Amino acid sequence: MDKIVEGRGRPFREDRYPAESYEDILARDAVKAPDFFREGPDTDMGTEPIDASRYYDPGFFRKEVAHVWPKVWHWACREEEIPEVGDHVVYEFVGKSFIIVRSAPGEIKALYNACLHRGRQLAQASGSLETFRCPYHGMAWNVDGTLAVNPFDWDMPQWADKPLNLPEARVARWGGFVFMTMDPHAPPLEEVLGPIPEHFARYDFANRYKAAHVIKKMRANWKATTEAFMEAHHIVGTHPQSLPMSADINTQYDHPNDYVSRQFTAHAVQTPRIERKLSEQEIFNAFIGYRSDSDEDAKVLVPENTTARAFAAQMLRDALSAETGYDYSHAGDAEMIDSMAYNVFPHMAFWVGMFANLVYRFRPDGLDPEGTIMDILVLKPVPKDGPRPKPAETRYLGYDDPMSDADDDLGPFLANVFEQDVSNLPYVQAGLRALEGGKVEFTRYMEACLRRLHQKIDALIAEGETDRPE
Ligand code: FES
Ligand SMILES: [Fe+2]
Repeated sequence: MDKIVEGRGRPFREDRYPAESYEDILARDAVKAPDFFREGPDTDMGTEPIDASRYYDPGFFRKEVAHVWPKVWHWACREEEIPEVGDHVVYEFVGKSFIIVRSAPGEIKALYNACLHRGRQLAQASGSLETFRCPYHGMAWNVDGTLAVNPFDWDMPQWADKPLNLPEARVARWGGFVFMTMDPHAPPLEEVLGPIPEHFARYDFANRYKAAHVIKKMRANWKATTEAFMEAHHIVGTHPQSLPMSADINTQYDHPNDYVSRQFTAHAVQTPRIERKLSEQEIFNAFIGYRSDSDEDAKVLVPENTTARAFAAQMLRDALSAETGYDYSHAGDAEMIDSMAYNVFPHMAFWVGMFANLVYRFRPDGLDPEGTIMDILVLKPVPKDGPRPKPAETRYLGYDDPMSDADDDLGPFLANVFEQDVSNLPYVQAGLRALEGGKVEFTRYMEACLRRLHQKIDALIAEGETDRPE
């Protein structure tokens, strides 16, 4: 077992772990990453502890339900899931329910999923319909939300002059995703996403398909769950198998705008936490074990005078070219192998890179402050010569189902990494309730993005309570 060291030598920067930075690693790469990989602004969020009750108190949760969830943008589905008119996905959060429907060939709407009569939900599941017919008393709406049938209009004089369309939430699209918000005054999606459309243009998310979709329930507050995927320094405790191939503690964190935070972790380089200098072969073996389930890949030897990082990047370029028909010779080593996520307030994450990209979404499980639904998508490039593969079926994992039940969807190695993350969460939740003093501490640099999450939640609650005191 290699010895883990906790800091050494002269600090490179007073507020960083004393080792080379992510940019230092990029500077050595055989094929350079684009400029936007460089460190951007990182807001100093201070060092104050926060109240642990924010993770379980029903009163605080009610404030989030009232003032946060209706105000934010959500990715609701992929466009590829609703290619034909009438195709729809039911998207729900904190007791709200929407029908995300292809209402015309070039149009997608988010209709409130409730009958205008006595409120029955109109659609319980995703699918394809010509009308949304209420099973209770038979009112029906066209897929564009206009009224189709009211079998008892003679008895509803109060509706005589009303259009009776289903109300709509706002919809916007980016990168093959359909986003929605309930708030007509929310800032435009472009403002929230900030640099994402420009940075992600190289990865062409619209021309990707949903190769896997896993939905997992966890017994923890949604923020505790989201936070578990917003930093990389839990690798030492949670994913120790990754240390030989992961510059965990050198991870670069920054905040490109008010809504977006980023975390960039170099792979196929060893952590500075392991005292011994590992051979390039050892680093490569650890990397390929993480990225590939193939026994053949595990036997590959790193040539002399080649780094594991450059070699692994080229190996993945070749593999991806063979799979998709595209040329990746321009792709930076980092773009082939690193772990780089853009977290979008409050509950979404999009990984950048040429390979299979992960996308996350976290929601409370209904109105339970101590239950979370996590969506994991794997997006792969559509092969150059087509056809576009069909989006994967969703795999549902309940509270007690292990992530290994998604081995077929994610591959056993990735499923195991998620299992390691997920297995912490019920104990995080239990510990939050048990903390003496009731305060949670965040680190200053690596967890500034977590502080921003809480600060923005507070800002929305304060704004909402000013508009409409509870
Ligand atoms: S509740 Fe829908 S028609 Fe009565
Ligand atoms: Fe993790």
